[in-house]
This record gives sequence, C-alpha cells and structure tokens, in this order.
Amino acid sequence: MTHKPIRKAVFPVAGLGTRFLPATKAIPKEMLPIVDRPLIQYAVDEAREAGIEQMIFVTGRGKGAIEDHFDIAFELERTMAERGKDLSVLEPTRLGPGNCAYVRQQEPMGLGHAIWCARDIVGDEPFAIFLPDEFMHGSPGCMAQMVAAYNQTGGNLISVLEMPRDKVSSYGVIDPGARHGALTEVRGLVEKPAAKDAPSNLIISGRYILQPEVMRTLENQGKGAGGEIQLTDAMAKMIGQQPFHAVTFDGKRYDCGSKVGYIEANLAIALERGDMADEVRAIAKALIAQ
Ligand code: UTP
Repeated sequence: MTHKPIRKAVFPVAGLGTRFLPATKAIPKEMLPIVDRPLIQYAVDEAREAGIEQMIFVTGRGKGAIEDHFDIAFELERTMAERGKDLSVLEPTRLGPGNCAYVRQQEPMGLGHAIWCARDIVGDEPFAIFLPDEFMHGSPGCMAQMVAAYNQTGGNLISVLEMPRDKVSSYGVIDPGARHGALTEVRGLVEKPAAKDAPSNLIISGRYILQPEVMRTLENQGKGAGGEIQLTDAMAKMIGQQPFHAVTFDGKRYDCGSKVGYIEANLAIALERGDMADEVRAIAKALIAQ
C-alpha cells in the first residue's frame, strides 16, 4: 500500500526560550549556533534530506532573525562576490519562495497551539514536525529514518528514546505495545507524568509525522500540563483511530533547549569536524587537566 508522501514540515519556533536568557532576549533560541550553523539550519537540512519540500515556520515576536536567515542577503552576497569570497557557505540558507511559509503564533500558548496555527498551510495532508532545539545527529537523519518507517506503516509516527526513569517527568512518555526492531506500537501517551505513573521510560524526542486530523483534535482541545495546549494530548486521542508508532532513532540526540545539552552538542560536533577536531581536543584536554 502506498501512503501520501510527507511534503510539508512545521517548525514551531515561537517559544520564549527562557532557559537561555539573557542570550535569547533578542535572539531566537533556534538561531543559537552549533559551531557555525544555527540549530534551525540543522533541522531544515534534516527535513530536506527526508524529501520534504515545504518548510512552515510558526514564529512569534522577536523571531525575525529566522526569516532573515532563510532569505537572500543581497548586500552580503554582492560584497562577498566583489571580494572573491566563496558563497557556497550560504547555499543551505536558500529556501526558494515556494518552499517556505511563515505564520505567527500571537501568544505562546503551548506546542499544540503552535502546530494548530499552521493548519491552513498544512491543509489536508500528512506532515512532519521538527522541534529544532532537539538536535538529532545521525546518518541517515532522524526524519529520513521516520519517513522510511512511515512508508511501511502509514498513520502517525513519533521519534522516541530511552531516558532514566527518574528523568521522564519533564517529557511526553509513551505506553509501548508490540516491538519490531526500531518500531514500537504506541498504545498511549502522557505528557509530563510523575515518575511513578510513567508507563515506560521511552520519551518523545522532537520529531513527528502526523495525519491532518490532529488539527481538528487540537481545535477543540483545552489546556493540559503547565496550562498549555499540549500536542501530546491531541495525539493521544488519535490512538486507536489511526495507526500510531514510535521509531527509536539510530543516532544521537542532544537536548539543546538545556544549557548542558547545548554545550555537549557543540563539543561533540567540533570534535567531528576535520577543520578543528585536533585543536579542540587539545584545548578540552588541557582544560580538564587544570
Ligand atoms: P519548549 O518547551 O522548549 O519552550 O518548547 P521554549 O519556550 O522554547 O523554551 P524554555 O523552556 O522557555 O527555555 C518546545 C518547542 O515548542 C515551541 C518552542 O519554540 C520549541 O521549539 N513552542 C513552545 C512554540 O512554538 N510555542 C509555544 O507556545 C510553546
């Protein structure tokens, strides 16, 4: 059976980023760089690799830098060209006019509400969601792995990873059913459960493929954990009505919404980069030896 292709991705980037203040007072969290690329760029690259064509950004006040990042920087490019500088470094930032759209979430009422703000552009087709502060590093990328699974199962998919039991209460947690390799059937979902009530130690990790019906569920949904409109609650209502699976990502996830996760990601990527790995390793060793 063939399933409708995943052509569109939603990037909710309207959060306040309070854990990174004061850095995020004037700069969106999603523009913080891992070495020399902003987090949002890694997420868009991962989407493109998975065959996704249209990028939909749900932004808010103070997020203009994201639009500028994916726009043509005419003065910069002309000056660089005149000086004979290599422009290929800007190549990934070019999203043609037909390939990106921006909608505003006027108040940060939660992830579920942010996704719902994109309903008209998503329309009546399955779509992907990326939380750019969860940096998924692997080859093939996390979304490419999920699209491969989707081509077999159809329906809804979320990416999951194992977390120590005492840490699950900050996340959405799945109630797992049958397991086949990286694919686990999802029987239930809870957002931020107390550790003792958590149905497993498998947490939702920032990538989703959802059917458009989720928009109608979100439409009528009240506030959940933390007084926010939760995507997890809307997804939970779709279980039993449509196929719902979790994919365990074969790769590494860095939680760049937290300061320590962000530093870990920068170090890890720097240590993989041919242009700086040796130098950074020497610096890190010297710092630790102090
Ligand atoms: P987070 O829970 O990480 O919140 O949101 P945050 O505001 O970005 O960061 P902190 O916790 O204050 O430091 C998860 C994702 O959902 C988006 C965020 O931009 C992030 O990508 N989001 C969250 C919205 O777009 N709108 C919201 O109302 C809430």
